Amino acid sequence: MSQRRLATLEVRSASKIYESGGSPVTALAEGSLTLSPGVVSGIVGPSGSGKTTLLMIAGLLEAPTTGEVLFDGKVISRPGAKLNELRTFRRTHLGFVFQKANLIPFLTAAENVAIAMQVNDVGRQQAQLRAARLLDALGMGHRGSNYPSQLSGGEQQRVSIARALANDPTVILADEPTAALDGTRAEMVMKVFRHLADSRNVAICVVTHDTRWMTYFDSTLELEDGRARS
Ligand SMILES: Nc1ncnc2c1ncn2[C@@H]1O[C@H](COP(=O)(O)OP(=O)(O)O)[C@@H](O)[C@H]1O
Ligand SMILES: [Mg+2]
Repeated sequence: MSQRRLATLEVRSASKIYESGGSPVTALAEGSLTLSPGVVSGIVGPSGSGKTTLLMIAGLLEAPTTGEVLFDGKVISRPGAKLNELRTFRRTHLGFVFQKANLIPFLTAAENVAIAMQVNDVGRQQAQLRAARLLDALGMGHRGSNYPSQLSGGEQQRVSIARALANDPTVILADEPTAALDGTRAEMVMKVFRHLADSRNVAICVVTHDTRWMTYFDSTLELEDGRARS
């Protein structure tokens, strides 16, 4: 089922300007980012520095005001890009992890992972099998039949990582994935990302305001007021 390509996702000189109550707010100014297979890239900076904006542009969830996004060397997003039309691309090549796991409360852990494949037309049985395998790999094999409310925050986050991996993505984009976790659980999640890059060549991008995690990054982009610090 794997259609994974090893490819680089590149944001080139992207800016994002919001009109907020009549006056423009520059959330991001000329931000550039290269996410390569097997590399863990970090985006760090204080709250409001433009980290999420850059990640959303890289993840094709926001179009930049200026600049472009390339996948495998081809432009895939630019100002005015029709993001709806990129839904299939996102589902196939990108995996997202957010601060909160956002699991579907009335589905079990295994079903939460399987459904991400089923919306991509993977058969139910195959999806269930792969969900079990992914949960196993994340040390959650024994919790597959638990509902989210029966899992700790760290366990829920590991299920959400399994869900992000469901369709064997080229790139994983994680926005403050450890912010809601205690130190031990947070470290576990960072180790999972490191392992995915090292063992499976996934390109990983982690946004964090916590500079403690910089030791896990191969490269780090520091943002301040929407700009890269140099
Ligand atoms: N939809 C929006 N409309 C107006 N301003 C926004 C919007 N999204 C983000 N911003 C502003 O852009 C700046 C960067 O935001 P964000 O990328 O969320 O920062 P971070 O993730 O580093 O906390 C902030 O000043 C924020 O208020
Ligand atoms: Mg943010």
